[in-house]
Amino acid sequence: MAEGPVVLGIETSCDETGVGVVRGGTVIADVVASSMDQHAPFGGVVPEVASRAHVEALPAALERARFEADLDWSEIDAIAVTAGPGLKGALLVGTAAARGMAIALGKPLYAVNHLAAHVLVDGVEHGELPSPTVALLVSGGHTELILVDDRACQLTPLGSTLDDAVGEAFDKVARLLGLPFPGGPSIDAAAREGDPDSIAFPRGMTNSRRSADGRFDFSFSGLKTAVARWVQRQEQQGGPVRVADAAASFQEAAVDVLVSKALAACREFGAGSLVVGGGVAANSRLRQTLADRAEPAGIEVRIPRPGLCTDNGTMVAWLGHRLVAAGVEPSGLEFPTRSQLPVSEIVLRSP
Ligand code: KG4
Ligand code: ZN
Repeated sequence: MAEGPVVLGIETSCDETGVGVVRGGTVIADVVASSMDQHAPFGGVVPEVASRAHVEALPAALERARFEADLDWSEIDAIAVTAGPGLKGALLVGTAAARGMAIALGKPLYAVNHLAAHVLVDGVEHGELPSPTVALLVSGGHTELILVDDRACQLTPLGSTLDDAVGEAFDKVARLLGLPFPGGPSIDAAAREGDPDSIAFPRGMTNSRRSADGRFDFSFSGLKTAVARWVQRQEQQGGPVRVADAAASFQEAAVDVLVSKALAACREFGAGSLVVGGGVAANSRLRQTLADRAEPAGIEVRIPRPGLCTDNGTMVAWLGHRLVAAGVEPSGLEFPTRSQLPVSEIVLRSP
């Protein structure tokens, strides 16, 4: 059996209620309940619905994790909880539960950064990230490029989206094309039947004449608008909308931008590895393009298993375990929750 401190992790920043338990470097429980189905009729995550779903799902998820880990809560050494970034009400559900458990059990509490947890969780499966590594975080809520020094547990933001997150763009474009929510998997599937070169959609913020500032930032709203205009034109012309071609061409444009910028960041900062996280990391075209373009450039691509890419409690427990092992002071009980939080702020503290 694995040795070392036992850390409970709680994640409620968006629509997944995640509870994980790590003992030493080993995952001993990993439970996720998703409220995705409840958001589907609205075509996107509804904050109030997400908060209520966390309240309903968290007690059972905790109990299930305790059962999987085969321990009593008195046996844990620390609790870690996502305190930001994320939906305010959703964050409050997880942090309130974590505070209550920390008080009842008399255990130290770490209020941690969701983005940092996404980036560092790759260590669970693949060991420490070489320094420096570039991280590409792509989901319904984030599109971020981050420079990672894993050993020092230091994360530096390089750029992020100025408007829609890339997963959000997949969801909105799927809606325009009449494909079901969540849009990522439906576009991925529809695109397999289409021609990715059939429609020239724009590659946002890749213009080489741009100033150095912002070259690692992203913009996906122009791409979404271009798809909307294209659909409109097809409808006006009275012909059938070529959904598969549009899905494939949209996906190609989005993936091209993500991969080009991630590889440019690797080159600029001398990183020999790229770690990818977030729900969009499941995208088959993104994976293929990374294999085609990163590996020949001598850049190793590391992608955690799908359950660790999407929101989960294990990544929070893992980050908590890292902080405990590094002797980092816990957060206390008065820490804030933050809907916006830079990736460099790994632990939130009481004032
Ligand atoms: O990480 P995640 O589960 O939740 C957060 O948004 O934090 O990511 C969900 C996002 C959704 O926007 C979904 O459409 C997208 O990930 N997604 C995909 C794929 N699978 C999920 N996007 C593109 N291709 C996929 N295969
Ligand atoms: Zn996330």
